[in-house]
Amino acid sequence: MLARTALRFTQRAVRPHAFAPLTSRAAFNSSSKANDPEVPVISYHNGERKEEALQYEASKPGPVTPPGADAEKPAIPLKPEILSKLTPTLQRFTLSGKVAVVTGGGRGLGFNMAQALAEVGVQGIAIMDVQQELGDKAAKELSEQTGIDVRFYRVDVRDGLAMGQTVADVVDHFGRLDILINAAGIADSNMKAESYDHEKFRRLIDINVTGSFLVAQAVANQMMRLGNGGSIINIASMSGTIVNYPQEQSCYNASKAAVVQLTRSLAAEWARYGIRVNSISPGYMDTALNRVPALEAQKRIWIDHTPQKRLGAVDDLNNLAVYLASDGSAFMTGNNCLIDGGYTLW
Ligand SMILES: NC(=O)c1ccc[n+]([C@@H]2O[C@H](COP(=O)([O-])OP(=O)(O)OC[C@H]3O[C@@H](n4cnc5c(N)ncnc54)[C@H](O)[C@@H]3O)[C@@H](O)[C@H]2O)c1
Repeated sequence: MLARTALRFTQRAVRPHAFAPLTSRAAFNSSSKANDPEVPVISYHNGERKEEALQYEASKPGPVTPPGADAEKPAIPLKPEILSKLTPTLQRFTLSGKVAVVTGGGRGLGFNMAQALAEVGVQGIAIMDVQQELGDKAAKELSEQTGIDVRFYRVDVRDGLAMGQTVADVVDHFGRLDILINAAGIADSNMKAESYDHEKFRRLIDINVTGSFLVAQAVANQMMRLGNGGSIINIASMSGTIVNYPQEQSCYNASKAAVVQLTRSLAAEWARYGIRVNSISPGYMDTALNRVPALEAQKRIWIDHTPQKRLGAVDDLNNLAVYLASDGSAFMTGNNCLIDGGYTLW
């Protein structure tokens, strides 16, 4: 049977393919890229069998980004006339009329995810951040880019009382609350465990773990009061699953492991209120957090240890965040989603 199939193929002419990377086997043999690796592709159309080869270049290390600010891309609002034309599956990815809180939304991953929520139809976003200037700028830009109602609250995630009051104000203003992206966080690295400063250790745990909990609690209490459920997305890290190399950062790693387990615990407790809780665990991302000269040498090692040979772009979490916020993920809770260019595979 196998022999007959192979014979039929050799008797048939092979049509050139419309896509550049696909070459017919005849063309492949004379190609200048003859030494590149290839994936055989067999297709059937109108009873005709066609065999081609998909060539690809062996991966090369990506460029190291110089120090500087986050890469910027303006958000584009979703027009209501487009919404009605979407198929049911695409509609489930939209967040029409919903309201979101994004902590750490002043810059970086939080700001980019806020832009993504705006691009899929949220009516209002509350950015919460400790940095006044960054938060103010982020709210202004997001509102100018998309025309949606954006509020900035300068608040520290460690302050539970202030957080309760702030989230209540969000609900008073918008009349609803559907989504939380808990992205505020800090990192300490190159700190040996044997000499780790006690105050520094406590501060990091307080922001990354206690802060994430206090925000989630304040938001969930409002969601329970409103009775419409909601989606909470905690930004953990692959450091909650693996131990980073070569830098020592025991406290950060422990804090993110705690965020992952907090996510699972809250998901189990709050499912009865229709509140879903998931976490995103990014790998090494190209954000201002990592754009410091002291990390340049280590960055090359990180890239080398990442199968995709690059850092994550500052907007690489956006579509996953939209998915987790939307009804597209309605049956998903307590999940930790690694998004790391394959780093944790090795
Ligand atoms: N950049 C990465 O490689 C990476 C990888 C994995 C996980 N993460 C996580 O993603 C999240 C965002 O990271 P980023 O790279 O965008 O960092 P970033 O420093 O660019 O942004 C973090 C934001 O959080 C705010 N913030 C810090 N402490 C706060 C507090 N106590 N209260 C309120 N706001 C506070 C900061 O002002 C800042 O605007 C963090 O939780 C981080 O641990 C980042």
